[in-house]
Amino acid sequence: MTSSTAPLTPLISASILAADFTRLGAEVQSSIAAGVDWIHFDVMDNHYVPNLSFGPMICQALKPLSKKADGTPIPIDVHLMVQPVDELAVSFAKAGANLISFHPDASTHVHRTVELIRSQGCQVGLAFNPAEPLAALEWVLQDLDLVLIMSVNPGFGGQSFIPSSLRKIEAVRRMIERSGKPIRLEVDGGIKPSNIAQVAQAGADTFVAGSAIFGQPDYASVLQQFRQALRST
Ligand code: DX5
Ligand code: ZN
Repeated sequence: MTSSTAPLTPLISASILAADFTRLGAEVQSSIAAGVDWIHFDVMDNHYVPNLSFGPMICQALKPLSKKADGTPIPIDVHLMVQPVDELAVSFAKAGANLISFHPDASTHVHRTVELIRSQGCQVGLAFNPAEPLAALEWVLQDLDLVLIMSVNPGFGGQSFIPSSLRKIEAVRRMIERSGKPIRLEVDGGIKPSNIAQVAQAGADTFVAGSAIFGQPDYASVLQQFRQALRST
């Protein structure tokens, strides 16, 4: 059976891993004022990945700031790079996450974790490392809101985009088309104004950007460059 879904509006999710931690709340507000669509919250546990970032208390503290000047809420897109997954996923749901993504190789019972996150009132994403096969999607794609393709190895911001991710994005796009469901395809790692168009052409509609935004003095100008590159696709 073939079916197709209407293209989803492209979204930019700002990874605050690259923000100035001494002014984290102000950085969230500045990136929202500059026009980002989501706040991407990278959770690292020094076990599943070789780095340690922030936990649910920081998410809870930032939640009231995650809105536009007119009060429109900006979703918090939590990317769990932790093992085990379930207990922290519940803590992040309680801390105000809107969408929670986890890695299938970090959960013993992937379907159970998907259902657990949904039962907490959050949308659910499944994240795949660069060398991780897409096998789990055969069984759970229908239950997801988002597939997250890692285009760097997880653990650090500021790395270079791995080119083989493009083929993987194309493969996931075909699977989403076949599902007929409006599932988002998010790409995370090394996204810049210079490569976002190519990543969009491969089939992504949701783009995580950390160092590309927070590494520049003018966040709004970076967002304009992203939007302009996306319009050219
Ligand atoms: C890596 C994280 C990414 C990363 C993106 O483990 O999941 O979200 O911070 O940062 P940049 O855009 O700098 O590659
Ligand atoms: Zn991430």
